Amino acid sequence: MLQSNGNKPKFSMEIKYIFQNNQKWIVQKLKTDKDYFKKLSATHSPEILYIGCSDSRVSAEELMGVQPGEVFVHRNIANMIPNTDLSAMSVINYAVSHIKVKHIVVCGHYYCNGVKAAMQSADLGILNPWLRNIRDVYRLHKTELNAIEDEELKYKRLVELNVQEQCINLIKTPDVQKAYKDRSITVHGWVFDIHSGKLIDLKIDFDHILESIMEIYKII
Ligand code: CO
Repeated sequence: MLQSNGNKPKFSMEIKYIFQNNQKWIVQKLKTDKDYFKKLSATHSPEILYIGCSDSRVSAEELMGVQPGEVFVHRNIANMIPNTDLSAMSVINYAVSHIKVKHIVVCGHYYCNGVKAAMQSADLGILNPWLRNIRDVYRLHKTELNAIEDEELKYKRLVELNVQEQCINLIKTPDVQKAYKDRSITVHGWVFDIHSGKLIDLKIDFDHILESIMEIYKII
């Protein structure tokens, strides 16, 4: 354990319980199926790739009610898919071209601090280039966003538009374009509402959006 010499870590009490919780979880899983971990380690073939925010309140598996082995998960600040991000691109390549998932979900969430930070003028150092991707989403939809007077509604709409643009970024990748051509794969844009716990399908009309941009982004 690497621990700073200064003040005690704020969450030291919780950390201590994690290994106890893990033991309880093992017992509970084995109670329902004594071969649970044998089966879990045998294969890895989830049908869903979930790309969401790292926010601790947006726990991917829990909010979807899925079990280990069912969803391949990638999380980063504000559920971004920048085409120069080696981590996101590797996850997409592996999930789409090797595991051959059937669904890709980009899930944003209202009250996302990453999106909020991008709406403000502040020098945040290493976060600047990451948040700039969200500022680019704002620029693309500036007319619609600036027409919204209520700041909270504008913030929520930017969260939704960011999900939409990240879904488009997904479709720009050769892995997803190839999968579209060869088999059945569906991209979904969702938002998690922290205030109500509700998962919302944005029902993005990809056919309509892609019609106007694929002449630019088509690779395959
Ligand atoms: Co967030």
